[in-house]
Amino acid sequence: MLWVTTVVLWASVSHVYGYSKQFPPGFKFGAATAAYQVEGAYNVSDKGECKWDRLTHRYPELFTNHDNGDNACKSYYYWRRDIEMAAELGLQFYRFSISWPRLLPTGLPNEISDDGKNYYNNLIDGLLERGIEPIVSIYHWEMPQLLQDLGGWANPKISDWFADYARVVFTLFGDRVKIWLTINEPIVECDWYYGQGILAPQLDYYVGPYMCNKNLLLSHAKAYRVYDREFRHKYHGKLSIVNHLLWLKPYSSEYEEDAEIARQFLTGRYAHAIYSKKGGWPSVVEKTVAKVSKEQGFRESRLPPFTKEEIELVRGTYDFFAMNHYTSRLVRTAEPDEDVVESLFTYIPDADLVLENDPTWTYGYSETMPIYPPGIREQMEWVRKHYGDVDIFITENGYSTGGSNLDDDARISYIRSYLEEVLLAIQEGINVIGYTYWSLMDNFEWTGGYGTKFGLYEVDFSDPHRKRTARKSARYYADLISNRSLYIPPACQSNSFK
Ligand code: BGC
Repeated sequence: MLWVTTVVLWASVSHVYGYSKQFPPGFKFGAATAAYQVEGAYNVSDKGECKWDRLTHRYPELFTNHDNGDNACKSYYYWRRDIEMAAELGLQFYRFSISWPRLLPTGLPNEISDDGKNYYNNLIDGLLERGIEPIVSIYHWEMPQLLQDLGGWANPKISDWFADYARVVFTLFGDRVKIWLTINEPIVECDWYYGQGILAPQLDYYVGPYMCNKNLLLSHAKAYRVYDREFRHKYHGKLSIVNHLLWLKPYSSEYEEDAEIARQFLTGRYAHAIYSKKGGWPSVVEKTVAKVSKEQGFRESRLPPFTKEEIELVRGTYDFFAMNHYTSRLVRTAEPDEDVVESLFTYIPDADLVLENDPTWTYGYSETMPIYPPGIREQMEWVRKHYGDVDIFITENGYSTGGSNLDDDARISYIRSYLEEVLLAIQEGINVIGYTYWSLMDNFEWTGGYGTKFGLYEVDFSDPHRKRTARKSARYYADLISNRSLYIPPACQSNSFK
């Protein structure tokens, strides 16, 4: 009786006050992982070495506890359990990535691994059998070491190598995969790895990021054109690059213009060429880098120009706008002689802009990810203003904890507060088509090793079988998905978990 009264009361209150917080019918919910972070089995059969294998083995001191992805979550062996978890959650899709050297041991299509092919076929078919859509990232940072040794993204040939790899992937899996993400977070790949001297390949700070930036955009575009020419007519899939969007607010109103410059440097530099009507580099970036390069004594701008053909090649190579969003920053100009922290997301060297956390923002285990939920909506408003009424797909959003804890209320409130803002964006008429929680399970969090945990499922890394256990947030997310609402009737607590 009490149960019935509660449900009736809940239903009427939510109806009367519009509290139902319902997601629109076509909106999809999912969760994500990436190959190096979960698969393990780094050297089974003919798998080639990727740049993370090399880096973690050669420079273990760069990683918390000297952790590496040699075994990770052993998803190479336990993929059936991963699918079962996705089904327990009621996910509509699961986003995972293909390891380039697992499929192409040399990085080039002269040799296709049967073992790699079988692994991804099993995963895709297993998901489809449970009614879960596979959404596949073609590249989530696993550059084959053989290609990295030739310069990786700094080598102009990379765009052909990447397009060749993409063609293999479309040929093998395109009949069943309808949403493709070409390259995950180019800014992290280029500005961090090729710029900060922290991670491989430790190229020149000034030149590396921009060489990578241009070649990577061409690589994405060539892969997109391959799909257009050879596959779209039979498979009717959709593609996007995955933009990493850090929402940038002015430190105070006097820095509004600087905040916009910062957005063009961090977002526009990877999105403008693809999504804007004009294509090419954002003009403020082009002018600023040319000016600073000259002052530094370079003969030409360190930002490599696009030819007219290249602008046309890249422009419009999208079917939707994929964005990963976790956090925000405040922007201000650097003080004269300020001792800035030269790192991605703390300083933009060419624009001399400092990025800071607002001291009122709290954060989870990762201090670099302060929580500012309206940032996700403000970011989407910016995308619409600059690139028009494009469909926006949130391909990552997540919260980190440290240590073992199954009662992760803070993660639940993070998810709820960010999704509240997504609903507001939808009410404003922004076409948000889906939300992806990062991550399905705890995994190898790059330099943070296994100590930083983003999972809906906790993974026991000391267990040889990598037991996965649902956290409270997994149950919350499952209820949210089945109700398609942020308000979950008390009687609808999920019990589908192992
Ligand atoms: C990356 C993931 C990473 C997550 C949390 C994203 O930027 O795509 O690979 O684990 O952030 O740091």
